Amino acid sequence: MTVTHCPYEAEILERREESVSIVTLTVRLTDAAAAGRFRFTPGQFNMLYLPEVGEIPVSITSDAETPDILSHAIRDVGRVSHGLARLEAGDRIGLRGPFGRGWPLLAARGHNVIVITGGLGCAPVVPVIDHIHRRRDDYGQLAILHGVKHCSDLIWGDCYQEWALHPDTQVLLAADVCDTRWSGTIGPVTHLFDQLTLDRNDAFAMLCGPEPMLRACAEQLLADGMAAERIWLSLERNMQCALGQCGHCQLGDRFVCKDGPVFHYGEVRHLLDKPDL
Ligand SMILES: Cc1cc2nc3c(=O)[nH]c(=O)nc-3n(C[C@H](O)[C@H](O)[C@H](O)COP(=O)(O)OP(=O)(O)OC[C@H]3O[C@@H](n4cnc5c(N)ncnc54)[C@H](O)[C@@H]3O)c2cc1C
Ligand code: FES
Repeated sequence: MTVTHCPYEAEILERREESVSIVTLTVRLTDAAAAGRFRFTPGQFNMLYLPEVGEIPVSITSDAETPDILSHAIRDVGRVSHGLARLEAGDRIGLRGPFGRGWPLLAARGHNVIVITGGLGCAPVVPVIDHIHRRRDDYGQLAILHGVKHCSDLIWGDCYQEWALHPDTQVLLAADVCDTRWSGTIGPVTHLFDQLTLDRNDAFAMLCGPEPMLRACAEQLLADGMAAERIWLSLERNMQCALGQCGHCQLGDRFVCKDGPVFHYGEVRHLLDKPDL
């Protein structure tokens, strides 16, 4: 689909509260022809525009095989996200997209895949998990590792349970702080690596979440022998144009909006802050 400077109008079809601060908005473009043409690849994002407030980048969490219906999980952190999170079904917003480079799903065909996420980081990889489960024979083993600060921060708990029922899929959860109901591991998400049953030498890793967590996980995978070109991260930077023109999302010689948001670790390792290991 041709990316435009002008937003399309999109109608909110459904608003679902995932937690006190996270809301999923499912939308459809009101122009039926544009909705029919819209295509995206897992890992791409849209710019959501709230009139008179502003515009922010948000990952697409819905299935790339039904691209006329688009879901976005929004964390209420500031002006625009707060306004978006308060919308109801029937309300309208502006939408530009899809933008950016998605996950290396073609390159990963025939290999194992390790999805590692933290916090709300799960959002950009949900369509990856849908994609692999739909084409189970095209990929090897799938491991889904997710870490949260407190066990009560876990959203989409039902999804993890459902994903664990799929063939050749291992789901592992970790929380730094937990209560007696927690059956996962206690500690950072890197503590889950020892429990992986798949062969890491034949795997692609796909990571999203807070940057210190991304960096710590990527360094651990490197130390365990994975090639930097097999470790992929989704990065976030403040954005304005999303077209590689304004420079707001500059990362070294790259633009996160256009060259990313998904990069392999070899491309960005020298540009990210060192983690506290
Ligand atoms: C490619 C990409 C994909 C994204 N996907 C999602 C998503 O799926 N769901 C989602 O909730 N958010 C996502 N974000 C982050 C989202 O764009 C920001 O939270 C949003 O821009 C904040 O704008 P605001 O007006 O609500 O807050 P502001 O009023 O601008 O800021 C409020 C607070 O949030 C911080 N903040 C602003 N931008 C970011 C950012 N990019 N990352 C972290 N903190 C930020 C500010 O420093 C400030 O402390 C994504 C960002 C990028 C670049
Ligand atoms: S947001 Fe303008 S160059 Fe990336």
